[in-house]
Amino acid sequence: MLGDSNTITAIAEEIKRVIDEQPHLHVIIDPVMVAKGGTPLLQTDSITTLQNYLFPLASIITPNIPEAEQLTHKTITTISEMDTAARYLHETTGAAILLKGGHLHGDQVVDILVNTHTLHHFTASRISSHHTHGTGCTLASALATYLAQGITLYDAVKQARLYVRNAILHAPQLGSGSGPLWHAMNSPPSLFDNSPLKT
Ligand SMILES: Nc1ncnc2c1ncn2[C@@H]1O[C@H](COP(=O)(O)OP(=O)(O)OP(=O)(O)O)[C@@H](O)[C@H]1O
Ligand SMILES: [Mg+2]
Repeated sequence: MLGDSNTITAIAEEIKRVIDEQPHLHVIIDPVMVAKGGTPLLQTDSITTLQNYLFPLASIITPNIPEAEQLTHKTITTISEMDTAARYLHETTGAAILLKGGHLHGDQVVDILVNTHTLHHFTASRISSHHTHGTGCTLASALATYLAQGITLYDAVKQARLYVRNAILHAPQLGSGSGPLWHAMNSPPSLFDNSPLKT
C-alpha cells in the first residue's frame, strides 16, 4: 500500500538496484489501490506512476477486480471479462497477471493467471465469511514465499491459494467488521499456549 508517487519511485529505485545485481529474483507487485470496502488507497494521479515505474519491474502483478477495472478502464462483472482484462494487463505490462476474483459474486471464486501463451482458471468454492480482511496481501506474500522455494508459478499460485483458504477457514472471528485471517494454522499449537487468540 504505497499511497503516493514519491513512495512508489523510491521503492522502484531500490528494486531496480537489487535486480540489477540479481536479475533472476521474482518481483511480485500487489497493486493495492482499492480496499475491500471500496475505499481508495492510492492517490489517483499516482496510478500512472505505478504503471510507469513499478509495473515494468514486476514478474507478476496481482490486482483484484476493482484495481483491474481502474487499470483497464473497463467494468468487470463476468469471468470472461476477467479473462479479457487479465490478457490486456499481461500484454501491456509484460508481467504475468494473477487477477483475483474475490470481489465477484457467486458460489465459486475464480482467480485467473495469464502468462505468455497460457491462461489458467483457479476455481474454488466461496467460503461464506466476512473475515476476509487482507486475503490479497496474504495471497501475494504466500506467492512470494512459494516462488522463493523454486517451484513453478502455476504450483506457487495453487499452494498460495490453498494457504489463503486455510487462513480464512481458521479466522479467529475478531470484531464485527471484515476481520483478519489466521496465518499460523500450520504452526504447532504449543506456540500459542498463552495467546488470547487460541483457535
Ligand atoms: N470468500 C472467499 N472464499 C474463498 N476464497 C476467497 C474468498 N474471498 C477471497 N478469496 C481468495 O482470496 C484471494 C484474494 O482475493 P481478493 O479478491 O479478496 O483480493 P483483495 O481484494 O486484494 O483482498 P484484500 O484487499 O482484502 O487484501 C484470492 O485467491 C481469492 O480467490
Ligand atoms: Mg488487495
